Amino acid sequence: MSPRKIIIDTDPGQDDAVAILLALASPEEIDVLGISCVAGNVPLALTCKNALIICELAGRPDVPVYAGSEQPISRRLVTAEHVHGETGLNGPVLPDPKMPLQDGHAVDFIIDTLRREPPNTVTLCALGPLTNVAKALQKAPEIADRIQELVLMGGAYFEVGNITPTAEFNIYVDPQAAEIVFKSGIPIVVFPLDVTHKALVTKPRNDAFRALATPVGNAVAEMTDFFERFDKSKYDSEGAPLHDPCVTAYIIASDIFSGRHVNVEIETGSELTMGMTVADWWDVTDRPANALFIGDLDADRFFDLLTARLARL
Ligand code: RIB
Ligand code: CA
Repeated sequence: MSPRKIIIDTDPGQDDAVAILLALASPEEIDVLGISCVAGNVPLALTCKNALIICELAGRPDVPVYAGSEQPISRRLVTAEHVHGETGLNGPVLPDPKMPLQDGHAVDFIIDTLRREPPNTVTLCALGPLTNVAKALQKAPEIADRIQELVLMGGAYFEVGNITPTAEFNIYVDPQAAEIVFKSGIPIVVFPLDVTHKALVTKPRNDAFRALATPVGNAVAEMTDFFERFDKSKYDSEGAPLHDPCVTAYIIASDIFSGRHVNVEIETGSELTMGMTVADWWDVTDRPANALFIGDLDADRFFDLLTARLARL
């Protein structure tokens, strides 16, 4: 089977970085057409720099990286240095990138790619706020029918919020963008905190990254050492949740995960619950299902896959 063509829209972020590394380590299943950066975990200039750093760490300076939206569609940017550190990639000491950003805006890259490639042959993997994806849909509505699938990390239902009591960070940063995306009719697969909080980098799992004894293995272990502080202190969890790599792993081996087709709507009216993903998990409304909402994974298979693929880099 030929590899699946994807665009990674991202706000690196240590977990974004691992998701990108996993994608670049899996050429049999994934052909990364390019990376579009968005403001989120840290401001846009840093998410772009971090994406370049990770491509070079993977030995892939050929991957086109584009700068995208530096602000949400209508709200003030909220960032997450308290989780990811001032650079967004705190932990390892990695060299500044030599590879340049591509000319042009990430939103235009997304539109141009979807117009050029045959319909339903390109998957969008969204790992940050959905600003770029929503702006592409606003600027070129016809692309909605050309997207094979949108696989995104975002939202929460049973797990509730991680940035407010009710909202997960990616959706909270740009709820208006999320509303546009979830009403677009695109086939959507959602990786909420409900599943990503089960993808925990326990000490044995992080030791396995370090045991690779490669620049990539060491970098991922050091990213995790930094990134886990927030969740360990807040949730008393056993380790850092690898949110975004769930998206890439799904492209490689979807049967690691399980979920339910449900209706998901986005709160954009109330500041109290702004950015909440209201998932009709128990089908109590007549609202049509618009997303595959992932709730569980085989965590051992996930980490075995991730570690084996990182060993390739
Ligand atoms: O809430 C977790 C999500 O927000 C992840 O994508 C993380 O990288 C941040 O973007
Ligand atoms: Ca992210």
